[in-house]
Amino acid sequence: MRKAVAILLLFSATTAYSAMHDPVAARHGVVASTSGIASQVGVDIMKKGGNAVDAAIATALAMAVTWPAAGNLGGGGFMLIRMADGTSEAIDYRERAPLAASRDMYLDANGKVIKGASTDGYKAIGVPGTVAGLMLVHKRHGKLKWSELVEPARKLAAEGFVVSPFLDGVFHDKETLKKLDPWPESRRIFLRDGHFYTMGERFKQPELAATLARIQTNPRDFYEGVTAKRIVSDMHAHGGLITMQDLREYKPVIRTPLRGSYRGHDFIVMPPPSSGGIAIIEMLRMLEKYDVASTGWQSARYLHLLTEVMRRAFADRAEFLGDPDFVKLPVNALTSNGFAEERRKTIDLTHASKSSEIRAGDPASFEGSDTTHFSVVDGDGNMVSNTYTLNDWFGAGVTAKDTGILLNDEMDDFTSQPGVPNVYQLIQSEKNAIAPKKRPLSSMVPLIMLQDGKPWLAVGAAGGPRIISTVLEIVLAEVDFHVSIQEAVDAGRIHHQWMPDTIFWEPNGTNPDSRAALEAMGHKFAEKPFEHISDANAVMIDPKTGLRYGGADPRRSGVAVGW
Ligand code: GLY
Repeated sequence: MRKAVAILLLFSATTAYSAMHDPVAARHGVVASTSGIASQVGVDIMKKGGNAVDAAIATALAMAVTWPAAGNLGGGGFMLIRMADGTSEAIDYRERAPLAASRDMYLDANGKVIKGASTDGYKAIGVPGTVAGLMLVHKRHGKLKWSELVEPARKLAAEGFVVSPFLDGVFHDKETLKKLDPWPESRRIFLRDGHFYTMGERFKQPELAATLARIQTNPRDFYEGVTAKRIVSDMHAHGGLITMQDLREYKPVIRTPLRGSYRGHDFIVMPPPSSGGIAIIEMLRMLEKYDVASTGWQSARYLHLLTEVMRRAFADRAEFLGDPDFVKLPVNALTSNGFAEERRKTIDLTHASKSSEIRAGDPASFEGSDTTHFSVVDGDGNMVSNTYTLNDWFGAGVTAKDTGILLNDEMDDFTSQPGVPNVYQLIQSEKNAIAPKKRPLSSMVPLIMLQDGKPWLAVGAAGGPRIISTVLEIVLAEVDFHVSIQEAVDAGRIHHQWMPDTIFWEPNGTNPDSRAALEAMGHKFAEKPFEHISDANAVMIDPKTGLRYGGADPRRSGVAVGW
């Protein structure tokens, strides 16, 4: 029975999200996230007079308590903000490589990649950016006091919250056990030393509550105070690389969002070190030249077009991208009309291209898929699109002693060795090689789209490279097919990432007729469906009525809350 719950809730998309329902509608504001409790926290903050940024900060902190597999203090991410006055910015609070990190740190004496070294345990951990990122956006845009925004998360950790059927499944899942069991602090807190939490029980995290209380009084505590010292002492005890200097010197970066437009809708999207913004612009530029709407949503012709543009954008992603503060990237060229047109011209509307002929050589990427995205809109029309992550499911699996903080394994997003796939089949170029203080390339791609210059859609997703295809599919569902935001989020997904030359598909992402038509064109499908390609949460404003809508992803029991 317990196993059945885990399988149903975590991996069996067909059963878990087949029901179609209306999006949440509200007059003032909406938060859509993977945690209903955290979405409610965000809305409560807006009710108290906070804006969308305040709500996003409180939601992010609450998710560090209520969605431990991906919500975090010990990871990093990207927050895209568009204020109602038209200003926008992209906050990069991605983790950085520690000062002691080096290009070949995951290779053995024979130059071979050491299995698991970049994904499990202390050497996999990048310097966390989440707390610094949230502090920065609060300083720039917050209306309420920082301590008010931390309080709901602190309370949830101290008093506990009721374990949902979904979280019950997560705690009992074998991947969770594999990740957390080797680490006594994680095993004690999240697995209750084998006496797993079940739905209806209250899950308290006293060490995390105490950490949040310290951060509530002084957010720099994470980087310089008691919390920092505890993280570093745990690192020393287990061979981790992060030092007090690493923490003290961590800095989030304010970046200028990339801009694009699709059929008259301007949009802003995350720039590098996200690879996703460039890929989305490139794919939409190619697609704009086709009458996508006339293909029919989810038809074979539509899926063929999607596959072909994804194939090309992912080939470029693998070759050209890395941290812009360390390597020169051809961003202007990759996002130009001319480049997209060159790529588009090679698309045959009746036959699948061969990935090996699109660009010779390199296989492509899989990435860890345990990221989480939430979207927020407030009564003034401020929008926030935030994706943050521990990288893998429960990050490195490690919880720093006496802090309750789960730590990321973001170092795995670097190129461990150019040309050699890591544990997630991730192959990238030298541009993404490890260097001290460098940020690994990411697929996270928060996006905000406008209609007639006014905020319209905020969207993003979890799922490694599948984030990019998911965001594309939701944008197309809205712009070309005009479905409700919930329908766009619910709809079955496909994904192609150039290499392997395979269409990944959810059970309701295609049907036997479409599949047969696509196979006749030369496409290859993964033998088994991908039960859960990604996890997306989006909000929209109806330009006619001003109503706010939220679409939360049922694949991970997401909940949109409005008021
Ligand atoms: N760790 C997943 C990503 O940043 O793409």
